[in-house]
Amino acid sequence: MIIEPGMTAFVTGAGSGIGRGMALALARRGVQVGVCDIRESDAAETVRQIELAGGKAMAVGVDVSVHSSVETAVQTVERAFGEIAISCNNAGISLHGVPLHEISAGDWEWVIGVNIQGVIHGIQALVPRMLATQRPAHVVNTASIGGFQVNPNFLTAAYSMTKYAVVALSEGLHNELQGTQVGVSILAPAAVDTRIHLSERSRPDRLGGATVRPQNHFMGDLLKGSMSPDAVGDRVVEAIEARDLYIFTHPQTRPWLDRRHAAISAAFDKAERLAAMRAGHTHE
Ligand SMILES: NC(=O)c1ccc[n+]([C@@H]2O[C@H](COP(=O)([O-])OP(=O)(O)OC[C@H]3O[C@@H](n4cnc5c(N)ncnc54)[C@H](O)[C@@H]3O)[C@@H](O)[C@H]2O)c1
Repeated sequence: MIIEPGMTAFVTGAGSGIGRGMALALARRGVQVGVCDIRESDAAETVRQIELAGGKAMAVGVDVSVHSSVETAVQTVERAFGEIAISCNNAGISLHGVPLHEISAGDWEWVIGVNIQGVIHGIQALVPRMLATQRPAHVVNTASIGGFQVNPNFLTAAYSMTKYAVVALSEGLHNELQGTQVGVSILAPAAVDTRIHLSERSRPDRLGGATVRPQNHFMGDLLKGSMSPDAVGDRVVEAIEARDLYIFTHPQTRPWLDRRHAAISAAFDKAERLAAMRAGHTHE
């Protein structure tokens, strides 16, 4: 779809990092942005930056893990800016540095609630509206390179599990929306210089509120000086216009996926050998 000035975007997790990068990039193209975040003061700072650059935006408090909160936020943005043509389901949290068997029930609820349910809630609220307009529209779901392989270091499997879900949801949505005016993209970055190592600041009140999780803080050093959220934002704008399904921002991570695919392929080779052997026995 061609991004036109005056269109409206709904971007979650836009108070920081990649969401802010996407919000700023869309605003530079004249798009009015609903800047949604659980941390309203951070959303307000993104709006300030957009307005300073001559753009139009509004800050909206939302907890993406709660269906009614997303629906209310969508209505608020629609009332102010009109129908929403671009939906970026981007809010997400990391839960690294803890083995799967030690993750608490509350933390499972948190990571699944934000990273998976958050995307589902965005799809539920906006895709029916987009289809009803019969005008070009686009959904960007932020997964991660961790949605395509599980990093053997850093104990990131719970996070990766949620990102695999985002990939499956998005591929399914893409299939289902073939022949409509609604496009779908999966954003799959590796390291981006954001505050995701401080996700605990955004834990919803109903799940215990902001906390401190030192296990996650090692990532701050890994992310420092990595790709800028602005570069990711510009890439997303291009991808929306190209209707790209997959948005990979770090070509150097391709061997990570190749390794996983090679292991899967080897397992199929083995299955074929075993099937051939069994067939051989049956014929004797
Ligand atoms: N930074 C990276 O290296 C990286 C790599 C791959 C994917 N991602 C993904 O990018 C997305 C954005 O992360 P980021 O790196 O910009 O991190 P970030 O922490 O800088 O920004 C995430 C924003 O989401 C908000 N948020 C968290 N929970 C929320 C909730 N329940 N409701 C509404 N907003 C909520 C936070 O307040 C924060 O402003 C996430 O989905 C993340 O998994 C990040």
